[in-house]
Amino acid sequence: MLVTLKQIADEAAERDYAVPAFNIFGYEDIIPVVRAAEEKRAPVILAANIPAIQHMPLAYLAPLMLQAAKSASVPVCVHLDHGKDFQSCSDAIENGFSSVMYDGSQLSLEENIRRTKEIADYAHQRGISVEAEIGSVGYSDPSIAMKHQLSDPDEVEQFVRETGIDAVAISVGTVHRMETQGASIDFDLLERIQSRVSIPLVIHGSSGVPDDQLRRLASYRVAKINIGTALRMAFGNTLRDEMEQKPKAFDRISLFGRPMTAVQEAATKKFSILGF
Ligand code: G3H
Ligand code: ZN
Repeated sequence: MLVTLKQIADEAAERDYAVPAFNIFGYEDIIPVVRAAEEKRAPVILAANIPAIQHMPLAYLAPLMLQAAKSASVPVCVHLDHGKDFQSCSDAIENGFSSVMYDGSQLSLEENIRRTKEIADYAHQRGISVEAEIGSVGYSDPSIAMKHQLSDPDEVEQFVRETGIDAVAISVGTVHRMETQGASIDFDLLERIQSRVSIPLVIHGSSGVPDDQLRRLASYRVAKINIGTALRMAFGNTLRDEMEQKPKAFDRISLFGRPMTAVQEAATKKFSILGF
């Protein structure tokens, strides 16, 4: 069933589990992720980022995500990941998304608050949840010019108070697109932040977080854990292997079989670590 982020995040924040938000790019990962959630009887967040929407416009991608959510036996949130401006967020909402993230993390605090509040007001009038980021989770790829800055507890408190968002993404040691689990979470900073706000916390760049730290994160008021690279690696590396093993194969339906299973297995493993 289709749910908003708020409908699953408020409870996840209080309980000893966190809901994974998996980046999806099409049918071949939407279906395995929803199957993994159903197998675990767990809620899940399908997260479409801007590159995914550039590849498959919302007119195609949104109905696919919404159909998967509505026909699932578990709660599924259809979410925009790292929306870059008002337009990208309102487009997602017009296309039926139940939740949007606006990422103003590269702006000044004042400008981030101003733009985030505008989007939060617009979304809330339509019953849609909003996540936004304060501090900035950087990227392991040096060609992506995004700053990396740990979140400041004072700023998180002000940001949440003045924007009215439903969940806040914070920077406590993760980095986007890590291909190995070498990140180190600053749990002291996380504790100081969670003592200052009452809404659910979100961790981005979680592919790089070691399993024991992921488990520990779930026990804090962290409700949403964003995972992209780990599943993209599961699909892409398995596809490469499959093509190497079957050098004459060209039928993509058969070539996609094993990569889809690999995505489902990778998602299932993350669910287990996050408390399901
Ligand atoms: O917003 C998406 C996530 O933060 C994914 O990060 O690819 O490093 O797991 P990741
Ligand atoms: Zn992210």
